[in-house]
Amino acid sequence: KKQLKKTCLDMHALACDYFRGMLGSPAGKDAREYLARRTLAAEMVDGFSLGCSDEDWQGLQNFLQKKGFSPAQAVEAGLLSRNDAGRTYDRFRGRLIFPIHDLAGRIIAFGGRIIKDGEPKYLNSSDSPIYTKGEHLYGLYQARPAISKSRRVLLTEGYVDVLSLHQYGFREAVGVLGTALTADQVKRLGSLCREVVLVFDGDNAGRKAALRSAEMILAQGLTCRVVLLPEGQDADDLLRQSGAEAFAKLLGQAGDGFTYCAECVRATGSAREVMDFARRFLRGLRDPAWKAFYLPKLAENLALAESELRQAIASEREERPSGNNPVGVKTQVKNLPGLPI
Ligand code: CTP
Ligand code: MN
Ligand code: MN
Ligand code: MN
Ligand code: MN
Repeated sequence: KKQLKKTCLDMHALACDYFRGMLGSPAGKDAREYLARRTLAAEMVDGFSLGCSDEDWQGLQNFLQKKGFSPAQAVEAGLLSRNDAGRTYDRFRGRLIFPIHDLAGRIIAFGGRIIKDGEPKYLNSSDSPIYTKGEHLYGLYQARPAISKSRRVLLTEGYVDVLSLHQYGFREAVGVLGTALTADQVKRLGSLCREVVLVFDGDNAGRKAALRSAEMILAQGLTCRVVLLPEGQDADDLLRQSGAEAFAKLLGQAGDGFTYCAECVRATGSAREVMDFARRFLRGLRDPAWKAFYLPKLAENLALAESELRQAIASEREERPSGNNPVGVKTQVKNLPGLPI
């Protein structure tokens, strides 16, 4: 098993060399022009080891075979795909390639953005012996020094958002790779920082993801704030169009995550949904002692009577004797006093 992982890591390191080499070669012309169009700096291309793949269906396969790795091994590593007829082929074609690193700086997976037109816009490695979707965060390896200093993370949706934030000096930026933050990712963040600032896209999907994510982050006793991006813009769009100062201003104005949740739920929820949210929120807290802190806050922000809320969770305790935690994270988050904020 250990040997299998080592083989996968070796193949990923080689694949990264292959993609990077291609970006610097004549075959990388379209990708270089694409990077220039999006004004992604050479410093980011190097720091994040970006590469590209051409339209060849066998390029990486042949490259790895020359290095002594069979197509079957490369399929298992998630680098090649296999069609119904059993034929293996390069998974990433015609894409800008974003390597995903683990905290030790080893490459464990790739993301690829289509360079011309086509679907899907983004393609990620499938799960493999070294990569499980939802366990890792894009850019955490590169952002870690900045995060350790400020104890804060800027959490964003996409690869390009992470690159742009770093390029404009916001070096605590990491990406969830899609919008569904997982408990494992929150756990990972909780061991490195105290505060997570959500920088999700200024659209309905982004705002919904922010609500869900804020709830998970608060449940772990981390502080959370929410940057509200202009309608239709993501972090990359805003930085390109309006610059670092505009983002810094929005960051300064970022509201408290708990207030954000409460306002969202009040604005969209029925009385029933509001109560369900409050109960779920209290149930989700990693440390039940924090209930004493959040109960009056919930009552105030959701315009509920505190007594009603107490009654609701008291009756719940009878229903669920083993106070379960929907987030299911058991890690000790460091540097926390008795209260979450
Ligand atoms: N994503 C994905 N698969 C898709 C679409 C998106 O995995 N089909 C993930 C990618 O990690 C992507 C992130 O979700 O970076 C955000 O998606 P989106 O906002 O659609 O993409 P952007 O990063 O803004 O894409 P663009 O390159 O066009 O700026
Ligand atoms: Mn390499
Ligand atoms: Mn989006
Ligand atoms: Mn974008
Ligand atoms: Mn986006």
